Amino acid sequence: MSEPLRVLVTGAAGQIAYSLVIAIARGEVFGTNQPLDLLLLDIKPMEGVLNGVVMELQDCALPLLNSVTPTCDESVAFKDIDVACLVGSMPRGEGMERKDLLAANVKIFKTQGNSLHQYAKKTVKVVVVGNPANTNAMICSKYAPSIPKENFSCLTRLDQNRAQSQIASRVGVKVADVRNVIIWGNHSSTQFPDISQAQVKVQDKLKDVRSAVQDDSWLNNEFISTVQKRGAAVIAARKLSSAMSAAKATCDHLRDWWFGTESGTFTPMGVISDGSYGIEAGLVYSFPVEIAADRTYKIVQGINIDNFAREKMDATKNELIEERDLAISVCED
Ligand code: NAI
Repeated sequence: MSEPLRVLVTGAAGQIAYSLVIAIARGEVFGTNQPLDLLLLDIKPMEGVLNGVVMELQDCALPLLNSVTPTCDESVAFKDIDVACLVGSMPRGEGMERKDLLAANVKIFKTQGNSLHQYAKKTVKVVVVGNPANTNAMICSKYAPSIPKENFSCLTRLDQNRAQSQIASRVGVKVADVRNVIIWGNHSSTQFPDISQAQVKVQDKLKDVRSAVQDDSWLNNEFISTVQKRGAAVIAARKLSSAMSAAKATCDHLRDWWFGTESGTFTPMGVISDGSYGIEAGLVYSFPVEIAADRTYKIVQGINIDNFAREKMDATKNELIEERDLAISVCED
């Protein structure tokens, strides 16, 4: 067996982490031969709950778990880590404006960026889950100048999973038979789920999604808005946010980053834009990426962008520009 991998989960006393840490600890992300040192960070008022999570992890008797460290101290949590799952963030309080929530959360990610810079391995791979995930990832990277920009990402895989599941049920195939739906932009209701490159396997033949679905009106309207508003629909039904599916998507995201995407497929990742597809460099924007076995990724190039797509890609870009400007002004205060 290899050396233990040091994996940090923040917000470890929260809902998503409750599903995420067990999946990681069972080997569903880094493989069943990879021992793990789990570092679990939350804030002081949640210390008791965090200790309860640790008790349960102990009671799971997990063979891959070399150690578990619960902590409220970032200098302990970020020390020499290989992977950071940044889930912890402040929930929206009653009467809180979106702007106030963004201000509170980007400050957390400024501090954690600084902790990554000071304490983590320079090779650390970071996935930001806590919302506003794209802008938090951008701020985190800005305050971690010693860590390469390409090591930062945010989660939009949940949106792809949601989109592929909608297509599968519409066509009447298994979700595993749908691939390459793109999620462009922000993990918010302005995101653009794009089926132009997506394929469905029907009776062992690959078809493009438009010809498999045969309903352009559904694809151009209801499909897009269902995916955009799915998070809110789950909250309305469950009275809690989509924790299980977010945890599963975080595992999918990290597993693909660790082992690479399958040939002929890509995954969506919020990454720092290099200016591809006219998206302002420096924004954390969700693109389709192909990941190699050495854990380097490249943004898939050459996708034809028609007017319909352009408009939607620009709308979500403009929202990210607004968020960025607000986040930077808050962090520089
Ligand atoms: P939760 O409220 O159950 O848990 C959040 C945890 O973060 C709490 O235990 C809280 O104490 C902790 N926390 C707050 N500030 C912290 C800090 N400075 N350091 C460490 N921990 C801190 O929330 P849940 O359901 O686990 O969701 C977490 C985040 O994930 C939310 O921002 C939510 O909007 C976001 N989310 C993102 C998705 C995505 O696809 N990107 C999907 C679903 C949720």
